Amino acid sequence: MATAHVSVSHGLLGLFLALILLSRAEARLGTTRQRLEVHRHLRRLNKPAVKSIQSPDGDIIDCVHVSHQPAFDHPFLQNHTIQMRPSFHPEGLYAESKVSAGEKSRPVLQMWHQNGRCPENTIPIRRTQKDDVLRASSVKKYGRKKHKSFPNPLSVDPDLLNESGHQHAIAYVEGDKYYGAKATINVWEPKIQQPNEFSLSQLWILGGSFGEDLNSIEAGWQVSPDLYGDNNTRLFTYWTSDAYQATGCYNLLCSGFIQINSEIAMGASIYPISGYGGPQYDISILVWKDPKEGNWWMQFGNDYVLGYWPSFLFSYLADSASMIEWGGEVVNSEPDGEHTSTQMGSGHFPEEGFGKSSYFRNIQIVDASNNLRSPKGVGTFTEQSNCYDVQNGNNGDWGSYFYYGGPGQNPNCP
Ligand SMILES: *[C@@H]1O[C@H](CO)[C@@H](O)[C@H](O)[C@H]1NC(C)=O
Ligand SMILES: *[C@@H]1O[C@H](CO)[C@@H](O)[C@H](O)[C@H]1NC(C)=O
Ligand SMILES: *[C@@H]1O[C@H](CO)[C@@H](O)[C@H](O)[C@H]1NC(C)=O
Repeated sequence: MATAHVSVSHGLLGLFLALILLSRAEARLGTTRQRLEVHRHLRRLNKPAVKSIQSPDGDIIDCVHVSHQPAFDHPFLQNHTIQMRPSFHPEGLYAESKVSAGEKSRPVLQMWHQNGRCPENTIPIRRTQKDDVLRASSVKKYGRKKHKSFPNPLSVDPDLLNESGHQHAIAYVEGDKYYGAKATINVWEPKIQQPNEFSLSQLWILGGSFGEDLNSIEAGWQVSPDLYGDNNTRLFTYWTSDAYQATGCYNLLCSGFIQINSEIAMGASIYPISGYGGPQYDISILVWKDPKEGNWWMQFGNDYVLGYWPSFLFSYLADSASMIEWGGEVVNSEPDGEHTSTQMGSGHFPEEGFGKSSYFRNIQIVDASNNLRSPKGVGTFTEQSNCYDVQNGNNGDWGSYFYYGGPGQNPNCP
C-alpha cells in the first residue's frame, strides 16, 4: 500500500512538474513567436534606406527610394505608375499666408531637418522601432485607431456620443458635395495625462454615413505617446474606408498613401511650436481631389505637395465627400471617472483669443467646380463645452475661422 501511495504521489508530482515545464515552454514559444512577428512586421514596414538621418528628438528618418515605399506592398498597386505631380491644383482665396500686422504667425518645418535632408527621388519615412510596435496591444493594431469614433455632430443619440470617451470641439459643413478642404492651424504641444490618451487637431474629409462604411481622410498634428513613445507634436495623416475597422492607418504604416515629396516626413515632429503669449507658428493643410485621375492629394504649407491616396482605396470618396470637419479631438480614457486633464489645442479656452488659444483660420472647401471657397453654413459642435469649447467667426484676413480647445478637467468639468 505504502509503495503504491508513494508512486501515486510521485506520479502526481511528475505530472505537476511536466505541466510547469510545458507552460514555461509555451510562454517561451509565445514570446519567441511574438518576437518573430514583431521582427517580421518591422521588416515589412521599414524599407531599405538610401540614407538615414538621426533626428534630435530620437527619431531615425530613412530616405527610401520613391518606388520602394510601403504603398507598393498593396496588391492593387503592383503595376502602378507614380504620378509625380497632380494634374490639377485648386486656387485659393488666400494664396499668401496673410495675417494682420501685430498678429504675426510664422511658418513651421520639421525637427529632423536640423541634421540633414533626403536626396532626390527618395521619400523620408520615420523608422518604426521595436518599442513602437510593442506599445501597441498587438502587431495588427499598431498604427491603427483603437475605437470606432468620429465626431458626429448629426447624431441624435447622446449616449452614443459619449460612449467611447473621445471628445471633440469642431466646426463642420455638410449637405453638399465637397472635393477637398483647407485650413491653417497653429501648432501646440498639449499635455497628455496618460499614455493611452492623445490630443490632435486636424481636418476630416468624410464620405458616406456614420455607419460601418464611413470613408475618412484626415490630416493635422497630434501628440500621441502610445503611437510615438513621446509627447512631441507630429504631423500625421489617417485614412479608412470602413469606419476604422479593417482598412487604413496612420501615416505610411500600411500600404495606401503614395508619397512623392522628399522633404516632409509623416509622423515626424513639427518644429517650432507656438508659445502661450509668445510667437505663433502655424501649418497649412490642403487635401483635394484631382478631377482627372480621381486621386486625393495632400499639400503641407504652400510648397510641399506630399502625395496622394489613390481613388480605389475608397467607396464614397471615390466620388466626393459629403461632410468636412475641422477641429480638435482628445481621448478621455476613463469616461465614468474624473475627467482627464489632457489638453486640447493650447489647453486654453477660445475666449482667450490670439496668442493664447488655438485656432483654425482661412478654412475653405473645394467645390464642384474645383475652386477653393469659404464654406457656407458652418456649424460647430462639442460634447462638453465646459471641458473643451469652440467659437467661430469671420473676418477679412482670416476668412472663416474658429478658436477651439480647453484644459479638460477644471472646476466646471470635474
Ligand atoms: C501586373 O502586371 C502583370 C504582368 O503584366 C500582370 O500579370 C498582373 O495581373 C498585373 N497586376 C495588377 C494588379 O494589375
Ligand atoms: C456627455 O457626458 C457628460 C458627462 O456625463 C454630460 O455632461 C454631457 O452632456 C454629455 N454630452 C452629450 C452631448 O450628451
Ligand atoms: C509625457 O508627459 C507626461 C505628463 O504630461 C509625463 O508624465 C511623461 O513622462 C512624458 N513622457 C515622455 C516620454 O516624455
